[in-house]
Amino acid sequence: MNQNGKTNNNIYINDWNALSIEIQKISPSSVFVLVDENTEKHCLYYLLDKIEATFKVIRIKSGEVNKNIDTCQHIWESLIRHGADRKSLLINLGGGVIGDMGGFCAAVFMRGIRFIQMPTTLLSQVDSSVGGKMGIDFLQYKNMIGLFGNPSGTFIFTQFLRTLPERELKSGFAEIIKYGLIADKNVWQKLTGFTISNTEDYTQWVSLSVEIKQRITSQDFNESGLRKILNFGHTVGHAIESYWMNDDKALMHGEAVAIGMIAEAFISYRTGYISEEELFEIRRKIIQYFGHHPRYVKPTEALIALMQSDKKNESGTFRFTLLKEKGQAIFDIPVPVTYIEESLIFYATVLK
Ligand SMILES: NC(=O)c1ccc[n+]([C@@H]2O[C@H](COP(=O)([O-])OP(=O)(O)OC[C@H]3O[C@@H](n4cnc5c(N)ncnc54)[C@H](O)[C@@H]3O)[C@@H](O)[C@H]2O)c1
Ligand SMILES: [Zn+2]
Repeated sequence: MNQNGKTNNNIYINDWNALSIEIQKISPSSVFVLVDENTEKHCLYYLLDKIEATFKVIRIKSGEVNKNIDTCQHIWESLIRHGADRKSLLINLGGGVIGDMGGFCAAVFMRGIRFIQMPTTLLSQVDSSVGGKMGIDFLQYKNMIGLFGNPSGTFIFTQFLRTLPERELKSGFAEIIKYGLIADKNVWQKLTGFTISNTEDYTQWVSLSVEIKQRITSQDFNESGLRKILNFGHTVGHAIESYWMNDDKALMHGEAVAIGMIAEAFISYRTGYISEEELFEIRRKIIQYFGHHPRYVKPTEALIALMQSDKKNESGTFRFTLLKEKGQAIFDIPVPVTYIEESLIFYATVLK
């Protein structure tokens, strides 16, 4: 594992050969593959077909509710029961839950065994598998226990996305839109005319996104500055996601972030950065993908209270990542509460 505070560059897209070479290079004493019921059904057989090493499968139940210490115990017990040692290798085959938890389990098992990330959702391919954050939820807190570290390699195969439910696909796509807005105007331009469906090829999107996230996280591995630009859309988005979490119409992460990006684009306009024209274009494009759902931006006070408790806000003032222009973000910008209220009203306003 690379512990020098940098992200590693060992990220391969659609390259089975590179995976075989990496496993040979590691030359593990034994190989374990972590799956949930969905990746076992839809993704595991590719591995059986493509890699020569024999491996043992560790199964866990899918879902964020299982990203906890009990599941870690099950993973560690399985490793021990099947004779894992310090030279064993763990391959994490799944979405962000498997990647975050499997990475964490490997990084502390016997003080750290090697692991490989094989992300199988769009969100994990473009976001969570890059940048070295790993961990689990604890008590009611998300990602409360964890660490920064690097896998031996990250192997992304876009063919896995063919079986991903379209709502999951769309939710992951919100992060791609975010990259376009915060870091690359060209990504934003490319969105015109693109429809999100299982039949599309996501290779170019994944590759552009990985490049952007790599560039940002390698300059700020421990999240002391620049990395905060990745939070665009997430201050308002997280509040909406949390508020509606237990509702039968709960939003997925990317759906909430899509609303958050429109609200935070408004705040960027209100603070004098982006133009009105840019603001309307951003709202139009995002709504084109995600629809318009005004019910989720109420009640304002409760949402603002949730933003207040957001760990990114220091000493009670609201600090936001905003767009300086399309394709460029700035972070730690103080924002008065009235602008946040207005941004929620702006989102809710009927479109012309
Ligand atoms: N480490 C980071 O930097 C970082 C960044 C963003 C998010 N995250 C974490 O990522 C997690 C969310 O990740 P996610 O959206 O991938 O969720 P997930 O891992 O729960 O996967 C979503 C669903 O898709 C299923 N699935 C996975 N691959 C499939 C495939 N190819 N075909 C069919 N079904 C498939 C899974 O079984 C699951 O039911 C959260 O826990 C979040 O905290 C981490
Ligand atoms: Zn996100």
